[in-house]
Amino acid sequence: MSETYSEDEIIKLPFMNIDLDLEERIDDLLGRLTLEEKIKLLSGRKIFQVPPIKRLGIPAFKTTDGPKGVGSGVIFGKRMSYFPVPIGRTATWNPELSEKFGVAVAEEVRAAGRHMLLAPGINIIRTPLCGRNFEYQTEDPYLNKLSSVAMVKGVQSQRIAVCVKHYAVNNQELNRFKVSSEIGERALQEIYLPGYEAVVKEADAWSFMASYNRINGIFGCEHETLVREILMNQWGFRGFLVSDWFATRFTDTVQCMKAGLSLEMPGNVKALLGQNQAFCYNKEKIKQVLDDGSLSQDLLDDNLKRILRVMFLVGMFDDQSTLPQGKLTCPEHHAVAREIAEESIVLLKNENNILPLDINSIKKLVVFGPNSDKKHSFGGGSSLVKAKYEITPLKGIKSKCKGKIKIISKPEKADAVILVVGLKHKRFYDSENFDRLILELPSEQIELINETAKKNPNTIVVLISGSPVAMDGWLENVPAVLEAWFPGMEGGNAIADILFGDVNPSGKLPVTFPKKLLDSPAHKSYKTYPGIKTWDIIKEGDMEIKKNQFRIKYGHGDKVYYDEGVFVGYRHFDTNNIEPLFPFGHGLSYTTFMYDNLKISKKSVSGDENFTVSVDVSNSGKRAGAEVTQLYIQDVESSVERPLKELKGFKKIKLEPGAKETIIFELGKKDLSFYDEKSSSWIAEKGQFNILVGSSSRDIRLEEKIEYLG
Ligand code: BGC
Repeated sequence: MSETYSEDEIIKLPFMNIDLDLEERIDDLLGRLTLEEKIKLLSGRKIFQVPPIKRLGIPAFKTTDGPKGVGSGVIFGKRMSYFPVPIGRTATWNPELSEKFGVAVAEEVRAAGRHMLLAPGINIIRTPLCGRNFEYQTEDPYLNKLSSVAMVKGVQSQRIAVCVKHYAVNNQELNRFKVSSEIGERALQEIYLPGYEAVVKEADAWSFMASYNRINGIFGCEHETLVREILMNQWGFRGFLVSDWFATRFTDTVQCMKAGLSLEMPGNVKALLGQNQAFCYNKEKIKQVLDDGSLSQDLLDDNLKRILRVMFLVGMFDDQSTLPQGKLTCPEHHAVAREIAEESIVLLKNENNILPLDINSIKKLVVFGPNSDKKHSFGGGSSLVKAKYEITPLKGIKSKCKGKIKIISKPEKADAVILVVGLKHKRFYDSENFDRLILELPSEQIELINETAKKNPNTIVVLISGSPVAMDGWLENVPAVLEAWFPGMEGGNAIADILFGDVNPSGKLPVTFPKKLLDSPAHKSYKTYPGIKTWDIIKEGDMEIKKNQFRIKYGHGDKVYYDEGVFVGYRHFDTNNIEPLFPFGHGLSYTTFMYDNLKISKKSVSGDENFTVSVDVSNSGKRAGAEVTQLYIQDVESSVERPLKELKGFKKIKLEPGAKETIIFELGKKDLSFYDEKSSSWIAEKGQFNILVGSSSRDIRLEEKIEYLG
């Protein structure tokens, strides 16, 4: 018989005692739960919550999306801050800003009465067409790692849980509920897992979300190797795994339990499911598998304890006045959104230094294009945010120009034109549940750019997009292009600051921009994207069929083969000598930087010995600016094929004109290693390694070598 307690009695129970050890508190609470209550806690209700157990004073554990601010979980409530999308935040190459974002967004989560943020999404950007690229960060595992760890630390510093998603190898939206990512061990270890490993080992992430897709045939929710073995046993994850919403539709109760799935979401949502119970973790099924012995009570308890642990970590059983108090959208958060936007914007092209525009000499300006006054916050799928406000590019530019420059409508009469084009959060553009169909901008936008450029040669293109776009047929016709991503609530102000030089651009591409889709490693064949049902049906010449026609003809693939292995993004372009449109790490500045004095602390190293690389970077131009110095390694001789270069360090520094700073990187064996499938371990082979230091992956300024002696 379960006891009933009064509020006063609950406060005196051991699990409420903050002086007790965390694990003791968890065990005490677990020990008081009946089987029915335990089962209740294993699945959700009201789309974003775990139900309360009132008898024991357990409040509802509440979650909310997402990656660009507090979102759909509270859309019917207050307006929130809308931060730049994660690909933009990563384009700052400034992990401190990811941490600041984490703190700010967590303050809003707390103030909204939620306990967990359904972010960050750290899936690698494998194809430029993935509809959720805007919600992800980069094609590179090292940059992914630094950006994710910083954000997780920021969020959890406020005792709000992150939910790192979508574990794992969820790199396309097309057929996302079922597709199997067929991937080799080396690519998994070198490219797709390092971000997840780092957030566990370096930031103690409290929750992970299992992806919809299958990984080598097994659903994310049922993947014992990826979850129980790797995430929990190898990396030491102490948090809990939640299913992506409805991802348990095709999964088995016992298999999910074995894998380590703690929470099925959304659980009991009659209106959405047409049934009033969870698919997998419902009372009937769980009791049945306990009764027939296929599920042990211990395993159920282990999975449940993980949820309880996070409930304690976020302070649900602590005196609420002792917790970080949280803050709803406020000027400090808006300032964080602006700072990130300013540092995220990438100056892709700037012929004859047409930018920055001189506010004192320009008299008439045209600002137009489909994205000039369009708001994007309330879109994209689950990441949508009901923003407190959103400064569009037009609004930002107008307020900068007020009283100084006249905004007119005829390009031929203006001193310059700001043409804001790009994508939007709509199906087949940058949107959850859909991949893009083409890499190009819509044809009417290309026509618009070219027509405008004919009327006014000073046409500056500002792109709003969450993924790379091809620029064939128009790039050569315009002198300057800015990639502004989806820049958040302060985006228009940030764009205006960059255009007029109040802020010197310092963003760098976290993804390669290919010239054409077929150059991209995932698009070598239909087998590699979108995936196939039966490889045999692909006939020669099918590559010429337009993607959408292909889909109609053959349907969605249920297996997508990651045949490119570790050669994702610039690893593919560099190694196969394919010229990208704009390389990974590219981004111009209004000043120039010089690189000198590259030094390696040792000529050779052995075993686990570390070494340092130092380089002097100076601002050789006339404006203050920030440079992202990038360090790549190159294995000169190897028994396996390795990428021509791999990012292993970067540092962003701000320099006044004439100023110089010495940057120091520390490297070791792991940075020289590759994942050896035969021995299932990381190996650094003897021989020469080149250390390449520069301003982008294709703008290497200095090079030195070091010998690894084994
Ligand atoms: C998305 C998740 C999201 C969840 C809850 C799913 O459709 O894939 O990223 O957190 O919905 O909104």
